[in-house]
Amino acid sequence: MGLSPRSLFFFLFILFIDSVTCSSCPIDFSYVQTLPWDSSPCQDPTDKSCCQTLLSLFGIGLAQYLNQTSMFYFPNETSSSSCLSDFQTKLQSMSFPRSLVSECLGNSTEFVVNPSFCAGIATTQDWIKKVGPTSLLDSSCNGDMTGLTRCGLCVEAGFRVSAQLASLDKNSTKCFYYAVFYAAGIVNEFGPEDPRTAVCILGLTLDSSATNKSKNLSKESLYKWVFGSLGALVGVLMTTGLIIVYKKWHKKRQQKELHEEYVTGVKARVLPNTGAKWFSLAELEQATSGFPQRNMIGQGGYGVVFKGILSDGTVVAVKQILDIDSKGDEEFVNEVGIISNIRHRNLLSLRGCCVTSDQLRGKRRYLVYDFMPNGSLDDHLFKNEANEKRLSWPQRKNIILDVAKGLAYLHHGIKPAIYHRDIKATNILLDSEMKARVADFGLAKQSTEGQSHLTTRVAGTYGYLAPEYALYGQLTEKSDVYSFGIVILETMSGRKVLDTTNATNASTILITDWAWTMVKSGDVKGVFDEGIREEGPRGVMERFVLVGILCAHVMVALRPTIADALKMLEGDIDIPRLPDRPLPLSHESFRSSLLFSASTSERSKGSSSISSM
Ligand SMILES: *[C@@H]1O[C@H](CO)[C@@H](O)[C@H](O)[C@H]1NC(C)=O
Ligand SMILES: *[C@@H]1O[C@H](CO)[C@@H](O)[C@H](O)[C@H]1NC(C)=O
Ligand SMILES: *[C@@H]1O[C@H](CO)[C@@H](O)[C@H](O)[C@H]1NC(C)=O
Ligand SMILES: *[C@@H]1O[C@H](CO)[C@@H](O)[C@H](O)[C@H]1NC(C)=O
Ligand SMILES: *[C@@H]1O[C@H](CO)[C@@H](O)[C@H](O)[C@H]1NC(C)=O
Repeated sequence: MGLSPRSLFFFLFILFIDSVTCSSCPIDFSYVQTLPWDSSPCQDPTDKSCCQTLLSLFGIGLAQYLNQTSMFYFPNETSSSSCLSDFQTKLQSMSFPRSLVSECLGNSTEFVVNPSFCAGIATTQDWIKKVGPTSLLDSSCNGDMTGLTRCGLCVEAGFRVSAQLASLDKNSTKCFYYAVFYAAGIVNEFGPEDPRTAVCILGLTLDSSATNKSKNLSKESLYKWVFGSLGALVGVLMTTGLIIVYKKWHKKRQQKELHEEYVTGVKARVLPNTGAKWFSLAELEQATSGFPQRNMIGQGGYGVVFKGILSDGTVVAVKQILDIDSKGDEEFVNEVGIISNIRHRNLLSLRGCCVTSDQLRGKRRYLVYDFMPNGSLDDHLFKNEANEKRLSWPQRKNIILDVAKGLAYLHHGIKPAIYHRDIKATNILLDSEMKARVADFGLAKQSTEGQSHLTTRVAGTYGYLAPEYALYGQLTEKSDVYSFGIVILETMSGRKVLDTTNATNASTILITDWAWTMVKSGDVKGVFDEGIREEGPRGVMERFVLVGILCAHVMVALRPTIADALKMLEGDIDIPRLPDRPLPLSHESFRSSLLFSASTSERSKGSSSISSM
């Protein structure tokens, strides 16, 4: 491939753009080279936590920018893209691939300020107007953020304040990030570049051998800087040129053979090592009678589910995965490979899958599962208005134990472990014998980790999400444990995670707060659903409630592993004394956030009281 005059022109043009944009980013990204962040995930191209790390790193710059300019995000796309490219240059100088930034941070318009991001806020002045000159963040996120307790308090405060903001405008998607930037850039006296702040508030992971490295840091970073700047310039030119050429070539090729190649490619990668069957689209269309609306049995963040009957008479649920972006193919293949090999009686296993692509409707992917005749736990706990029999105590007990066993298998029984990320009553399905099966595991991982995705997800499952995950996307096995704790409490009490119906004050709306209050006042029995209050042995039922509270503790380190939680439920090990909750929940500023949260589950109620806040 020779260089035509035209490509040369491209290069020069890009050089011009580059020299203009490089100088216009107001953020000094030198911390990227001086902070001892843990870059090991970014050395492994399949490790998805690299993107989390980069988001945290870039967030440090945004918090810094907020401190200097009072602006959340950038005023226009010019400065946004120049900052992204500066950031990229810094990373390249540390020999990370150029593509990392666009893969992880995406389109530069993501970082151009937009009032709809969070309740009309664009500047710190707007923030103060909405939240007040001091908020919980000011009391919780200042000072040295080392230590679990300090950091836990700040995390909790961020969670509450962002929910309070989101309650002012339901369309908000980035209030979490605003709270994080504000805490790190404005509130914290050490600022976002301080490792203690970066670790706690921005969720950055530091290199464990950092203490020794930092000695050589200044020399090393100067070296890297000199070489990096030269190298990066050449690199920018070369790669941009190549990308343009590649894209053209790729597009042409796409039109010809993309569709068949895509399907055969995916098939070839999925099939050889999995237990799942390969379905053709025709089979699935026949099974569902052509995917009509009337056969639709569910709809969620990841897709639409239809009921169908295969030609051998098996009743199945066919889920069409909604394409969030086209990057998901590789991951889809990986996930299907992993999931289809997992067989556990408390997990909804995959029967098969289908991938098609055609000119008219593009790529589509389907997953086929066994149909679960008794619906979801949610249907039985909440949708069942007196006219049907409620779940009995033995049924509830078994469902909770089933879920614990399914999760314990995902976390401890297979390698690599799978974190579900979306445990909630609607994802727990019940078979004909009312045995519980956890659905949608593994697939949660399928979608990209980008910002917008994270926030839509957070918005969708308020209440079930562990605070640290909601805020920073920090995912550990303990995030699942948190959601499991919520499910236990819901199952024991028959109350939704966010419930306004019987609330006498704000601190009883969130199920964890309510259960905690009841238990601390000595009324554990008050937590039990009325229908089962007299059904079971009091001691066992109390144990379940206590494990639920412990699992849903706001501080990650105090939650048990799912394996220990299961042992506690079964009475094999003792439950540790319940740790104190870190915050008094009667504080006035919690009210609106709780009301907002509640209104997502109780759509008609509560919203009027929000507008007056
Ligand atoms: C973008 O914002 C920067 C910083 O405020 C400003 O200097 C620049 O003139 C703006 N560019 C455009 C095209 O508006
Ligand atoms: C970025 O996203 C916006 C809106 O989502 C779109 O209009 C724009 O073309 C995208 N830019 C690039 C470079 O992909
Ligand atoms: C939220 O979005 C919906 C639909 O996009 C729009 O109709 C509504 O006006 C928006 N609400 C606010 C407060 O911006
Ligand atoms: C910016 O950060 C410094 C130190 O971290 C702090 O003293 C200052 O008040 C901050 N500026 C604003 C506008 O908050
Ligand atoms: C740091 O260096 C000291 C000696 O200078 C050594 O004893 C220690 O093990 C090193 N720590 C790490 C984490 O490498």
